Amino acid sequence: MKILVTGGTGYIGSNVAVQLLESGYDVIVLDSLSNSKSSVVERIKRITRKNLTFFKGDIRDKSLLDGIFKKNTIHAVMHFAGLKSVADSETNPLDYYATNVAGTVTLIESMLFANVKKIIFSSSATVYGDNGLIEHSETSPLNPINVYGKTKFIVEGMLKEIRSGNPSFTYAALRYFNPVGAHCSGLLGEDPKNKPNNLMPILANVATGRQKELSIYGNDYNTPDGTCLRDYIHVTDLAAGHIAALEKIIQTKTTFTVNLGTGKPHSVRELIKTFELVSGKKITFKYAQRRKGDLDQYFANPNEAERLLAWTAKLDLFRMCEDVWRWQQLQQSGL
Ligand code: NAD
Ligand code: UFG
Repeated sequence: MKILVTGGTGYIGSNVAVQLLESGYDVIVLDSLSNSKSSVVERIKRITRKNLTFFKGDIRDKSLLDGIFKKNTIHAVMHFAGLKSVADSETNPLDYYATNVAGTVTLIESMLFANVKKIIFSSSATVYGDNGLIEHSETSPLNPINVYGKTKFIVEGMLKEIRSGNPSFTYAALRYFNPVGAHCSGLLGEDPKNKPNNLMPILANVATGRQKELSIYGNDYNTPDGTCLRDYIHVTDLAAGHIAALEKIIQTKTTFTVNLGTGKPHSVRELIKTFELVSGKKITFKYAQRRKGDLDQYFANPNEAERLLAWTAKLDLFRMCEDVWRWQQLQQSGL
C-alpha cells in the first residue's frame, strides 16, 4: 500500500516515514522544505535501506497534488505539513490559516477527487487550551487560546463534517502532547530552520554551547518545583501511534480522535536534570518571567489510544534526552 506523507521531511513526518517503510508500506513524501532539508530523504533511505519517492512542493498547489494522485495509487494520506509555532501564529495569523486550514482543504479536495478517502491528521493537545482541566481525555471541552490551536480545532471540525456528508471518508485525528526525542540512529530529529521556541531544542542548544543559557519561564507555578509540567512523548512512540492508527482505519474504516501522550508529566527542572545526567554537561539557566499563554500543567489521559489502538508510549524521559543528545552530537560532528 502506498501512503502519501505530507510534511514527510519534517521532524515527526520523517520518523513516521521510517516506521511506514519498516512496516512494509510504500511512501511518497510531499514537502515544501520550508522547515526541513532534502537530505532527510537520504537519511530515511539509509536507516530503512528502502526507497521512497520525494516531491518538493506545497500542499496548496492543487495541480501538483492532482498530478501525484493521478500518477500513483495512493491508499491513504498522513498529513503532517503545516506551520507549528504558537508565537508566530499570533504574529502571522493569515499564514497559519492559509497553510494549516486552506492547505488541508486543498489536500482533501484533491484526495476526494482521486477517490482517496483515508487520512491521518496531526492535531495537537493545544486544542484543549485553557479548559480548566489538567488531565485531558478526548471528551474534555476544547478551548484553543492561540491562532495555531484554532487552526487545528477548525480542521478537526472540518474532518468531522466531511465525514458526516460522506460516510466512506475515514480519518484519525491524533492529538499530540509534547513530542521530543529523536530516531535512535541519531540521524533524524528536530531541526527547525528558525530559532527554536520549544524547551527541548533550546536545552540541546545550551548543552552543545550554541546558546549560552536557558531561561526558565516562571518558577512560581502551582506545581511541586514551581516550573510547568508537560506530557513529553518520544517521537518514536508517537510514530508508532500513527502506524497503529493507520492500520485501524484500514482494517475497520472507523473514524476517531485520540490523544497521543504518556499521561506522565515532567517539569522543566526535571527535564534539565535528566538532560544533564545524560549529556554530562551543565545546563546554565536563569529564571525569567512567565511566558504569555503557558498553563501550569496538563497531560494526556492516554486510555482511549490504548483501548482503540492497543498502543501505549514506552520510552521514558531518560531515553528521550539520550536520543536528543545523540542526534545533537551527530549533527555537530557534521555527519
Ligand atoms: P516540522 O516543521 O518539522 O514539519 C512540518 C513539515 O511540513 C516541514 O518539513 C515543512 O517543510 C513542511 N511544510 C510546511 N508547510 C508546508 C506546505 N505548505 N506544503 C508542504 N509542506 C509544508 O513540524 P513537526 O514537528 O514535524 O510537526 C508536524 C505536524 O505535527 C504539524 O502539523 C504540527 O502542527 C503537528 N504538531 C506538532 C507538534 C510538535 O510539538 N512538534 C505538536 C502537536 C502537533
Ligand atoms: N520553556 C522554558 N524555557 C524555554 C522554552 C520553554 O521554560 O526557553 C517552558 C515553557 O514555559 C513550558 C515548557 O517549557 O512550560 C514547555 O514549553 P514548549 O514550548 O516546549 O511546549 P508547549 O507546552 O508550550 O507547547 C508545545 C508545542 C505546541 C503544542 C503543545 C501541545 O510547542 O505546538 O506543546 O501540547 F501545541
